[in-house]
This record gives sequence, C-alpha cells and structure tokens, in this order.
Amino acid sequence: MNHGFTIWFTGLSGAGKTTISRLVEADLRGRGLPVEVLDGDIVRQNLSQGLGFTKADRDTNILRIAFVSKLLTRNRVVTLVSAISPYRETREMARKEIGHFVEVYVKCPLDTCIARDTKGLYRKALEGAIPYFTGISDPYEEPLEPEIVLHTDQEAPQESAARIFSRLKELGYLL
Ligand code: ADX
Repeated sequence: MNHGFTIWFTGLSGAGKTTISRLVEADLRGRGLPVEVLDGDIVRQNLSQGLGFTKADRDTNILRIAFVSKLLTRNRVVTLVSAISPYRETREMARKEIGHFVEVYVKCPLDTCIARDTKGLYRKALEGAIPYFTGISDPYEEPLEPEIVLHTDQEAPQESAARIFSRLKELGYLL
C-alpha cells in the first residue's frame, strides 16, 4: 500500500478507547508497521492546549487531529486516534479528509462508565462541577455506520483488539 490508514476510536469517556488503542498499537508495532497515536488527553496537552469542551472547541480539536492524521496516513503511517469525538458530522468531516478511515465505536453503556469512573470525572459532572460533560450534560451522537462496534461491557480488551484485527483484514488493510 502506498498509504497508511487511520483507526478512529470514538466513544464515551471511560469506555475503553485508550486501553484498546494501546493494545492495537503494540500489536501493529510488533508487525513492523509505522504507528502513531493521537490520544485526546495527550493532544489536549499540546496541539489543542487551551481548548475547552464547547461544541466549537471540540470541533476545533477534532479537525486538528484529523489534519495531522491525514498527513500521517498519506505517508504510510498507521494512525490511531482516540478521542470522544461526540459529533457525527465532525467525524464524517474527518473521514472525508483522511480517506483511509476505520471508525471504531467503543460502545459502553453510560451506567457502566459512571460505575467505572476511572478518572473520577463522572462523579464531579453529576454534581454539576464540570459543564458540558459528555453523556451527562452534553450529547454523544452514536455512529450510524461504523466499521466496527466494540461492546466493552461484554468483552475483554484483548478480545476487542482481536476483533479489530479481523475487521482490518476483511477491509484489506492488513494481510
Ligand atoms: S473531544 O470531545 O474533544 O473528542 P477528548 O477526547 O479530546 O474530547 O477529551 C476527553 C477527555 O477530557 C475525557 O476523557 C476527560 O478525561 C476529559 N474531560 C474534561 N472535561 C470534559 C468534558 N466536559 N466532557 C468530556 N470529557 C472531559
């Protein structure tokens, strides 16, 4: 292939995007492929420093990530994005811009994310201390036709990663 592809993980905070993308990253590196990861939490410390969580700021964040992903993808890099990316239309813009795009919906019931509360943010959001919190006081628009749906309340991260690899083969991105 004279190009790479982008695996775009979308889903609620705490659904498992980062965990699964790191497993996929390790496996791809093991296959000798060039890989880069653009994780929302890290991007927001540098490329998107200073942005908040209004729709306008999230869209800016996502379009910046999409721009970098496009540059990487056209240079044969397998690019893994994990960001809530809650707005369908903005994800579709990313898909169009990048081209070789595999949308992975990391699906997990909101109640399970709240129970996990890995970062302690849901508790604060439910107390009203965090405005525009996805799932609580801000929307999450589910993908309508993602390439893959993972059910992280029902499958272990390794299983989810394995399902991604079989889908990548089906789609012709991997041998
Ligand atoms: S996105 O909506 O712009 O795609 P992104 O994935 O970069 O979001 O950042 C989400 C992370 O920021 C969450 O996992 C959480 O740790 C933190 N965060 C802080 N405030 C919010 C908020 N209001 N809504 C969602 N996540 C938030």
